[in-house]
Amino acid sequence: MVAPRYERIVILTGAGVSADSGISTFRDKDGIWAKYDVREVATPEGFARNPLRVHEFYNRRRRDSAGVEPNAAHVALARLEQTHPDVLVVTQNVDALHEAAGSRKLIHMHGELLSALCARCGERHAWHEDMGLETVCPSCHRPGCMRPNVVWFGEMPYRMSEIENALARCDLFVSIGTSGNVYPASGFVAQARAHGARTVELNLEPSSGISHFHEAIQGRASEIVPPFVEQLLRNAELM
Ligand code: APR
Repeated sequence: MVAPRYERIVILTGAGVSADSGISTFRDKDGIWAKYDVREVATPEGFARNPLRVHEFYNRRRRDSAGVEPNAAHVALARLEQTHPDVLVVTQNVDALHEAAGSRKLIHMHGELLSALCARCGERHAWHEDMGLETVCPSCHRPGCMRPNVVWFGEMPYRMSEIENALARCDLFVSIGTSGNVYPASGFVAQARAHGARTVELNLEPSSGISHFHEAIQGRASEIVPPFVEQLLRNAELM
């Protein structure tokens, strides 16, 4: 288990943190990429080729996200933030479960499912309903230029300079529920470790980046994250 009090904690989450809420991961055997061709639904080229197919893919995920509840892992991470003075969650997930559990110091580096981006004027809007070829931008009022506010393969993830600053100053880096297959998130552990942080992985199975971690705890996030957070708070004498 982790040693005494950490001052600055960065937590990276992936699809595995939402799996126990019933949201599919991407690369597990029954995952999203086993059902859809990533090149068709998660690249700018796929959107240019067939925007309707991409809208339908995200419309289905947006509809499926309604009524999904955060699980004990999301709740424990929100409690950590509320109890410890310097915690940042960087999530690769586009679901809104960290916010629903109470996390506020949160970066969605791959964007958000419940948000839309106008490719013409660049404005972003909260978005809960279906989106299509004729959807009108609430800002510039033009039809046919709205897209999901999600970062596709080949696009630059959001708020990378804030993330890199946080990785350079943290003394504990925790990765939860990610397979470590997608850059730049998969490189965060090495960056944090190079700056002297202790690195811990919590995942159902060893990720591709397991060799970079000082410590690994295996299991379902909803079962292993709450005791891990309790231990952090006990070490910091915050509970
Ligand atoms: N608890 C903990 N970990 C779990 C659970 C669970 N209940 N279920 C699955 N996992 C683990 C899997 O073992 C796997 O290592 O979560 C990880 C999920 O990996 P991926 O499906 O690859 O998802 P992720 O790492 O978040 O993908 C990163 O790839 O496709 C892009 O943009 C997409 O953000 C996504 C990025």
